[in-house]
Amino acid sequence: MVNQKNILLGVSGGIAVYKACALASKLTQKGANVKVMMTESATKFVSPLTFQALSRNPVYIDTFDEKNPKKIAHIDVADWADIAIIAPATANIIGKLANGIADDMLSTTLLATEADVYIAPAMNVHMYAHPAVMQNMQQLEAWGYHFIEPGSGYLACGYVGKGRLEEPESIIQAVENHQNREQLLAGKKVLISAGPTREKVDPVRFFTNRSSGKMGYALAEVAAELGAEVTLVSGPVSEQVNHPRIKRIDVLTAEEMYEAMHANYANQDIVIKAAAVADYRPKLVHDQKVKKQDGNLQIEMERTKDILKSLGEMKTNQFLVGFAAETNNPMDYGKKKLLQKHLDAIVINDVSAEGAGFEGDTNMVTYLNEAMQQDEVSLASKREVATRILEFIDRDMKDE
Ligand code: CTP
Repeated sequence: MVNQKNILLGVSGGIAVYKACALASKLTQKGANVKVMMTESATKFVSPLTFQALSRNPVYIDTFDEKNPKKIAHIDVADWADIAIIAPATANIIGKLANGIADDMLSTTLLATEADVYIAPAMNVHMYAHPAVMQNMQQLEAWGYHFIEPGSGYLACGYVGKGRLEEPESIIQAVENHQNREQLLAGKKVLISAGPTREKVDPVRFFTNRSSGKMGYALAEVAAELGAEVTLVSGPVSEQVNHPRIKRIDVLTAEEMYEAMHANYANQDIVIKAAAVADYRPKLVHDQKVKKQDGNLQIEMERTKDILKSLGEMKTNQFLVGFAAETNNPMDYGKKKLLQKHLDAIVINDVSAEGAGFEGDTNMVTYLNEAMQQDEVSLASKREVATRILEFIDRDMKDE
């Protein structure tokens, strides 16, 4: 996977710089084109000449040391790179990147690149545990940077008691695994709806539900990371997305969601309806604020359109997936919805279970496909659950 790839190896100053020599060498041996960029402090540990010999390319250190008058080196390297690996990444370079500071060649280039960036931290264990460092890493991870740490998977999420640079072979393995993963949904178009809808009573009041949109947003983010082009139709939520392959369309009401889903339905490969759509809306919407009066108030409600059912009825090639939020008999109701709405699969969510359902960051679900094959996803982060769901969908699409 790294063969023929243009890899920028950013080396910042720590004792682990010696391991970056092995990394540069192994990447080159695997057929990658490697350009090394060192911070000033990294040059105190290992001479640039070592990296030049191992990468067979000039080493970049000083932003103003422009060797070719036709090019601006930091922009040129930033554009050239398919992948950037920062190893070792000190607390300093992590802090700069998380705060947009560009005061040397490496930090400037990292701000300018659109390459996938992998960060392999190395620092003292207490520095690693410092809230400033943790916050910077979390910020970078939220922006889509990938961390590679000893003892964790290809994407690290926990930052407990670590600080040693991961071994060069494992760094390459982690990058390769992640690059492979990006291929899973490459070229696929995915439409996802997320969040609640809001049905107005008057200018100051509305009916809604507890959906936070987190599950739908996790699906959108992971699908984009797996290479898909994602359209996310979102009800009103506080969640944010920031991925170049996600196009977000904001809606408020069930009717607006219906319009947006139908307008974007054709040509999709996968459609996932994770939104919690209102089944009823006030029949009469008042232009003025309703004033209180003696006695009870009755509001007559009328049915909204069942968006998913309508999508199921006009399905062509889309793989259509619904969600079922249930508090009792989840499997029975889930199966019924799968059949009634002409779905290819349904994600059944027992929202009464501890750690599952609305608002939280975790979920546990059952994925049920058309062949009535059942896959359980036990309690995990919504991102992890989203990954599993997308893997099941990919498997079932290949089986079709
Ligand atoms: N759904 C929809 N339009 C609606 C209601 C629901 O598209 N008006 C979709 C949801 O996005 C979800 C699936 O249908 O993917 C199931 O939603 P859920 O609220 O669990 O069930 P309902 O179909 O509303 O059925 P019930 O109220 O009987 O549970």
